[in-house]
Amino acid sequence: MSISVFLTDMLFSQGFGTRRICAGLVQQGLVKTYGDAGFQVCEQTDKPIEVYNGMPFMVQSELWQYHAKAYVLLHKPAGTECSHKPSAWPSVYSLLPTPLRQRPAKTGLQGVQAVGRLDQDTTGMLLLSDDGQFIHRMSSPKHHVPKVYELTTEDPLDEAVVAKLIKGVVLNDDPVPVKAAACNLTGSHHMQLTLTEGKYHQVKRMLAATGHKVIQLHRSRIGNLVLSDDLRPGQWRWLTADELAGLTRKQ
Ligand code: URA
Repeated sequence: MSISVFLTDMLFSQGFGTRRICAGLVQQGLVKTYGDAGFQVCEQTDKPIEVYNGMPFMVQSELWQYHAKAYVLLHKPAGTECSHKPSAWPSVYSLLPTPLRQRPAKTGLQGVQAVGRLDQDTTGMLLLSDDGQFIHRMSSPKHHVPKVYELTTEDPLDEAVVAKLIKGVVLNDDPVPVKAAACNLTGSHHMQLTLTEGKYHQVKRMLAATGHKVIQLHRSRIGNLVLSDDLRPGQWRWLTADELAGLTRKQ
């Protein structure tokens, strides 16, 4: 395999467009690699020796990192929809760079997909990936991945509400009561609620079942991954290998 074919395949896998576009970028000399280790060609096999996660490369003037699969964390701001075809608000996908939106999948240049959805007005941690198994594992109620929400209500909360949420409340479309995995009051109108499933509008509907209206909702944690203050609303970053291992470790 020649280095230009290798580079074309690599760019394609990283979301830089169709193979034709990627081949054009390579032919025009618009792809620059660093530390050449990843791009050395083995004399015996005539194949590139090593490509590793995090390996930097530059396309036109854009610095990028190679990732065999994409696992990213976005701090979702309020006023964005978790949909490719939003109805009223900008899409969360518009906050991501083009290569993350064009990573190839079986069905075309589909890009990363959100792990579950947050409401338009909900802020906080949103994971996105192009790894279908990871998305399934993180969103399936079977795997009990805890998701922690910080919420504010219109009226004051008390321990009786906490007890109801822990015992389980009935949501209108579901005869089986839905329970919080954990629940603590964090202020007169504030609560931290942990769920291991993700039904439609679940937090808001659970609180509504106790007679409370949620006026602010923020997801602060998924599994052992905490949304830190340095990732501002609208910003995204790659997950580290340790964070990924922590999320996918059997609980
Ligand atoms: N529960 C909700 O009600 N809304 C969200 O966005 C997430 C969980």
